[in-house]
Amino acid sequence: MRSVHYFAYRDGELYCEEVPLKRIAGEVGTPVYVYSRRTIVEHYRRLDEAFSGLPHLICYSVKANSNLSVIATLASLGAGADIVSGGELYRALRAGVPPSRIVFAGIGKTEAEMSSALRAGVLMFNVESRQELHVLNEVASRSGLEAPVALRVNPDVDPETHPYISTGLREAKFGVGIQEALELYDEAARLSHLRIKGIHQHIGSQITQVEPFRESVSRLRELVLELRSRGMELEYLNMGGGFGIPYRNEEVPYPADYAEAVGPLVKELGCTLVLETGRMIVGNAGVLLTRVLYLKDTERKSFVVVDAAMNDLLRPALYGAYHEILPVEEKGDPEKVVDVVGPVCETGDFLARERSLPRLRPGELLAVMSAGAYGFTMASNYNSRLRPAEVMVDGERFAVVRDRESYEDLIRGERIWP
Ligand code: LLP
Repeated sequence: MRSVHYFAYRDGELYCEEVPLKRIAGEVGTPVYVYSRRTIVEHYRRLDEAFSGLPHLICYSVKANSNLSVIATLASLGAGADIVSGGELYRALRAGVPPSRIVFAGIGKTEAEMSSALRAGVLMFNVESRQELHVLNEVASRSGLEAPVALRVNPDVDPETHPYISTGLREAKFGVGIQEALELYDEAARLSHLRIKGIHQHIGSQITQVEPFRESVSRLRELVLELRSRGMELEYLNMGGGFGIPYRNEEVPYPADYAEAVGPLVKELGCTLVLETGRMIVGNAGVLLTRVLYLKDTERKSFVVVDAAMNDLLRPALYGAYHEILPVEEKGDPEKVVDVVGPVCETGDFLARERSLPRLRPGELLAVMSAGAYGFTMASNYNSRLRPAEVMVDGERFAVVRDRESYEDLIRGERIWP
């Protein structure tokens, strides 16, 4: 999976598949997210193949990139969806994901969200607390339905990733501890409108080792065996998402490495393995295209001011995340160390710091790489900036799959008081 994507230079020009990025910027404007459909398809297939030795279901984690075209592409390949809100349920259904392949996680599901997911017929709810379990039972009983449930267990394993995206440690707000899970499964079994279906974990994101998965899945396995001895059979073991991707050519495991690590643990249990992969499928399948506005040299630093900002791609500002930045046209100019910053009124508004880039001129295009996951989905209208357009490329063709926002969009639903 290392850096496999279809963004590459041809005669000094950066292409997405068969389309020059310059053409997209010319026709659609900047900033714009560009996704390679072929990359998405290939990443999904590789993951699916790696786990082919086990009964499994890949529920694409919609929060990574929720564009309808992205979800629909994956649904057409047989993917399910991992959702965390009524909004994501709506998107997944609109994109054609069969409800029987949708899993619903999150620590703060409202009754309204539970009820619509229940009526839609989702595969299961990943329940995260005792109170939620009881509320779900009541919502189900009011609708005369049975809610399929898995408990999200917090296996207390360190995924060794950024603290903001690490979720499986004891102090995290997610899931329930192993001891509490045993009690809650007993409790769930006694509630009239719940049906126990499985067990769930999600230990964090951008994990670049196999070991935390081996460790946590083996803890879940122990739990499944204990529950079995109490007469509870679980059909699904959901190992969550979190497979990391290379952001700067670092070594990360291949899907087959994960399959090899957890396969033997799950196989003899006879459970269907659920994967909630987001980033690994879409992360390297997208770039954010931006245009240089100004060059600004101060006494201490050189800045490249571009037309994309933290509201378009929040990851550098929020996590100090590294995204490679490539000039769309290679000119072979000498390099210079610069900060690439956006127009937003915050010092934290940067896309790269202390980065060596070929000398740039106003009007030049840059591609912020690996922006397909948690890019557009975390975009906002801060500074009343319009959220960018999204484009999907497939071979020689491309289409705008979400329009750039307009000023009308910006104030939709607002009114001047009184
Ligand atoms: N399942 C659950 C329950 C999750 O909370 C998440 C991500 C996933 C699956 C998918 O994880 P993935 O395979 O994409 O690693 N905004 C952050 C990442 C936050 C991840 C939140 N949960 C970032 O930009 O790095």
